[in-house]
Amino acid sequence: MVASASKCRTCRAPAIIDLPRHNAHFCAEHFLQLCRRQVTKAVEQFEMLNADDKVLVAVSGGKDSLAVWDMLVELGYHADGLYIGLGIGEYSDTSADYARAFARDRGLHLVEVSLRDEYDYDVPTASRATRRVPCSACGISKRHLFDSAALKGGYTVLVTGHNLDDEAAVLFGNTLRWDVEYLARQLPVLPARDGFPKKVKPLIRLTERETAAWCIVRGIDYLVEECPMAVGNKHLAYKAALNAIEHESPGSKANFYLGFLDNMAPLLAGRSAADEHALNACSSCGAPTTGELCAFCRLVERAAAHEPVPVELLLRKGRSR
Ligand code: AMP
Ligand code: FES
Ligand code: ZN
Ligand code: ZN
Repeated sequence: MVASASKCRTCRAPAIIDLPRHNAHFCAEHFLQLCRRQVTKAVEQFEMLNADDKVLVAVSGGKDSLAVWDMLVELGYHADGLYIGLGIGEYSDTSADYARAFARDRGLHLVEVSLRDEYDYDVPTASRATRRVPCSACGISKRHLFDSAALKGGYTVLVTGHNLDDEAAVLFGNTLRWDVEYLARQLPVLPARDGFPKKVKPLIRLTERETAAWCIVRGIDYLVEECPMAVGNKHLAYKAALNAIEHESPGSKANFYLGFLDNMAPLLAGRSAADEHALNACSSCGAPTTGELCAFCRLVERAAAHEPVPVELLLRKGRSR
């Protein structure tokens, strides 16, 4: 990852990684130490976790979620994993293999939920049934199942692997649109309320390059491939734009997002419409919602009635457009 002559900033041993935004190189040991410090700093600053929390980590089999699970276990938290089978063909089969292997090799507990087995649909079918982009059905399904699995299992906090690149890209999109409502909700901690578990993002101070390096140094096998249905979405374009800026001016990405949290987020407190709507229980599943049926139950109703659509069909359609 770096020229062999570079030395670790802390111990002067040969470095394995350069981090331009810290203007330094690090050996494996001190790189891991830096990552732990960044996670601990995020956890403490935003009061994400307590020592006695029962933590559920949503794991996709990718680098970020496996890295955060590994770090939290290493830091001494009681943390189980949650894997959701989205039914996105081979991509989902392989991602499940990585999540299961990680849990098995370390003797950790992985909770599994399968959309097809338990709710009679999958993401490609839901996308076709609703005539919406796959990420829309995928997001509704994941959010609902994160909440319900956490509450059902008696977990006090749900953790996701969103990193600095993810959050900066979402912030960039929300800012381009001046979507004040989304900006007001873009916080790394959502407190528990009205039947929702507390949700936290401990990786907000680490980039995806750093979480990938964490996995490599720690010997964690992860799924490198991105979801085939995300190809070409705006989120990836925003990430590329921010990377171009970061390349010219190291540290810009962290300043953009972490500066938002310090300077802007407090000014936006109370601007989220979600704070104002009264919530009632979904008449089918009991989850909090503003309507009669929650978005997830409406999705299940439509998607489960549709004949199964293989992911290849959607990908072919995407390419020919
Ligand atoms: P994404 O929305 O794909 O960028 O993923 C964001 C976070 O959601 C990941 O870091 C994981 O914590 C979680 N996640 C994504 N896919 C899954 C899945 N299939 N099962 C459980 N958690 C997931
Ligand atoms: Fe959700 Fe790709 S992971 S659409
Ligand atoms: Zn060192
Ligand atoms: Zn419902």
